[in-house]
Amino acid sequence: MTDGDTAPAVAVIVVAAGSGTRLGRAEPKAFVLLHMRTLLDHALDSIFGMKESVQIIVVAPGDRAADAHAVAAQAATRHGAFASAVTVVAGGRTRQDSVDQGMSALLPNVKIVLVHDAARALTPASLCDEVVAAVRATGHGIIPGLPVVDTIKRVAASGAILGTVDRSELSAVQTPQGFPRAMLTSARAWAVQHGRFESLTDDAALVADAGHPVTVVAGHPLAFKITTPEDLERADLILHAATPAPTPPPAPTPPPLARIGSGLDVHAFATDDATELWLAGLHWPGERGLSGHSDGDVVAHAICDAVLAAAGLGDIGTIFGTADPRLTGAHGDVFLTETMRLVVAAGFLVGNVSVQIIGNRPRFAPRRAEAETRLAGILSAPVNIAATTTDALGFTGRGEGVAATATALIYPTPLAVHSAVPEQTHTPDLNWEV
Ligand code: CTP
Ligand code: MG
Repeated sequence: MTDGDTAPAVAVIVVAAGSGTRLGRAEPKAFVLLHMRTLLDHALDSIFGMKESVQIIVVAPGDRAADAHAVAAQAATRHGAFASAVTVVAGGRTRQDSVDQGMSALLPNVKIVLVHDAARALTPASLCDEVVAAVRATGHGIIPGLPVVDTIKRVAASGAILGTVDRSELSAVQTPQGFPRAMLTSARAWAVQHGRFESLTDDAALVADAGHPVTVVAGHPLAFKITTPEDLERADLILHAATPAPTPPPAPTPPPLARIGSGLDVHAFATDDATELWLAGLHWPGERGLSGHSDGDVVAHAICDAVLAAAGLGDIGTIFGTADPRLTGAHGDVFLTETMRLVVAAGFLVGNVSVQIIGNRPRFAPRRAEAETRLAGILSAPVNIAATTTDALGFTGRGEGVAATATALIYPTPLAVHSAVPEQTHTPDLNWEV
């Protein structure tokens, strides 16, 4: 394969050497930013986006060649091309001079030349393809144009209307303008020769002036030229609307709603010496026992009420009844274990439990840690137990019994499918004092 087989047959001269007087920015128009990228960068997107690979010639202001190279290199990289795919040349005083400079950089194999304004920064690549195709198909000069929608008047310097122009014959022409290379070269030579070069501002006029056929094809609204600040604003709005809104992050999963419950239990001290004391799940040898159908463990019972209440499952009396013979003398762990089963089945776990014992005896502090560990093991959650006397006041102060309050925090089991609470299996008729 020779170089001639791979060398591009189409060149696009991107004229970007103007100063942008009407835009009124300090920097040349091609380097004005639009959505954080220069107009030249946007314009190069249109060319790199074309179907066939083409020679790209950027005509830049003489003192901004290095910047143009940098922009071109970025655009090339973005499109998976080499920076060398773009040639940068310095522009001239007028647009036509700049086109001339671009023409001087054409590769030998180029047969079709497109001249494109960098200022038409949003031109779709498809319009460039269509112009190339039309030049190939017709051998004509091809320029894109849009019908003029406004009524056009000829107006005298005084403001007087001289007449209305027939709009049907008008077309607002755009770039890229495409020509067979030979046609453009000879037309330019003709214009220079006949002193027409300065007066013919667009390439098509120059080619037509030299007697070559030039045909208008459908242009594209996005190929409008950014000339004034309003044009730049319009381009900005168009890009803004075209930028897809960032996908909103998934709504944060609300934290599972914790629930709280409280419980209270009181048992009188037994009047006999035989009853043993069970409190907070522990056996207290030598201490006077508490009366009740079960073992009278006020701490365990208060916790059951608190946990059941938090889960909305009623209370210990509802669940266990008050006279179940199977629960005669039952210890606190029996009630706590069943309570936990129901609560877990309802889709909850216990967060923590706080207990307050109120009574003169037993002296609780020495076995606090032991009791907390025992109950925490059953509940699978931290348990804190505080104990207090009531300064000799009330039934606890008089040593008639022991009271306990409990507060439980529970939370829904993560990802739990809340199942219905299974029917409780205990016969609800225990002589159970709560
Ligand atoms: N152009 C050029 N060389 C010039 C003048 C213009 O390459 N000496 C280019 C511009 O960079 C622009 C295109 O021709 O991409 C169309 O020109 P225009 O919109 O008039 O741009 P400017 O001349 O830069 O703007 P102004 O006329 O407002 O100064
Ligand atoms: Mg100009």
